[in-house]
Amino acid sequence: MFGKIVHLLKNVIFKSVSVFSLLVECFRDYRRYVAYSATFKTFMNSERLIEGRLTAHYHGIEKGLAMKHFRPYFGKKHIEAIDYYLTKLKKLKKKGKFSSTHVNASLSCLKSYVDKHDYERSEYIENVSTILKKHLDNFGVSIEKLHSSTTSYDCSRFDGDNDFRSLAHRRKSVRVFDDKVISKNILENVVKLALTSPSVCNRQSTKLVYLNNEKLIGQLLDIQGGANGFKDQIKNLVVVFSDLEVFEGIQERNQPYIDSGIFAMNLLYSLEYHSLSTCPLMWPSTAKNNERLYSLLDIRKTWEPIVAIAIGYKPNEVVKMPISKRVDISECLEFR
Ligand SMILES: Cc1cc2nc3c(=O)[nH]c(=O)nc-3n(C[C@H](O)[C@H](O)[C@H](O)COP(=O)(O)O)c2cc1C
Repeated sequence: MFGKIVHLLKNVIFKSVSVFSLLVECFRDYRRYVAYSATFKTFMNSERLIEGRLTAHYHGIEKGLAMKHFRPYFGKKHIEAIDYYLTKLKKLKKKGKFSSTHVNASLSCLKSYVDKHDYERSEYIENVSTILKKHLDNFGVSIEKLHSSTTSYDCSRFDGDNDFRSLAHRRKSVRVFDDKVISKNILENVVKLALTSPSVCNRQSTKLVYLNNEKLIGQLLDIQGGANGFKDQIKNLVVVFSDLEVFEGIQERNQPYIDSGIFAMNLLYSLEYHSLSTCPLMWPSTAKNNERLYSLLDIRKTWEPIVAIAIGYKPNEVVKMPISKRVDISECLEFR
């Protein structure tokens, strides 16, 4: 009896300490995010902070230029922001060396935007042209060095080469799909291959929900908010979750995102391997959005939403897609 009470007491003390430690670590996560992410930065006083915002805005432009149904004069806020952040970047590094990837990609987007509207040289487009010229001068970049911010992708010309190098280069976020619904059999083969993903202690927390109901997909995308301009293209969608119930302890608090993030990447490759196109869609995680998702899909609240993936057969046509230029290896890899 005494032994049982001691055991119970130890357990209660251990759990109370754990709850407190978890609170401390979560508070530390919160403080790091407040201190280092761009969320609360008014002065944007580092190159990386500016590059992050710049990339998000120029990607908005390259995505819009690649849309199947082009909307003239789209993305004015993005253009304004590109101008603002390029000006900030120049001021910050008056003489210093810039990461040419982001500067060139932003300038290329401005140029492609102007070129796309070339049929109608309005006052607004002249304005964008002036912004482009100003930054070309500021950064000493010649207009000939700029690339187009979209590329053409012939979906019907797949040569069947599925070695990893070809597969990895072929996988792109595609925003134009064929209308066909994916068969259960193919989907099961896709997931079987994706299940080769590694996970912490083989915990396999990932749960997937597949949807092909147009109304449900529409409602989910309304919450998601990042598929504007190509919602009508999405007839198949998978939502990736991580079941929190298989994790324990303070050190594992971020593991659901890591394990199911790795799974999601494996799933993207598996879909590409099976000749299906994909576009990952960020889940805007807030208590309200998650509640709406739980009631929409009628799923357990122990499942943490990680990412949604629009999937579909490749259309039998040449589609446009953003270049999504990658940084130079020296900007990613460091040696110590
Ligand atoms: C987690 C994640 C969330 C994303 N969310 C969106 C999104 O909401 N809307 C969208 O159009 N693209 C989204 N993307 C696609 C990215 O824009 C794309 O991966 C990036 O530009 C690189 O291009 P690539 O996938 O063609 O190589 C997302 C990608 C990831 C990995």
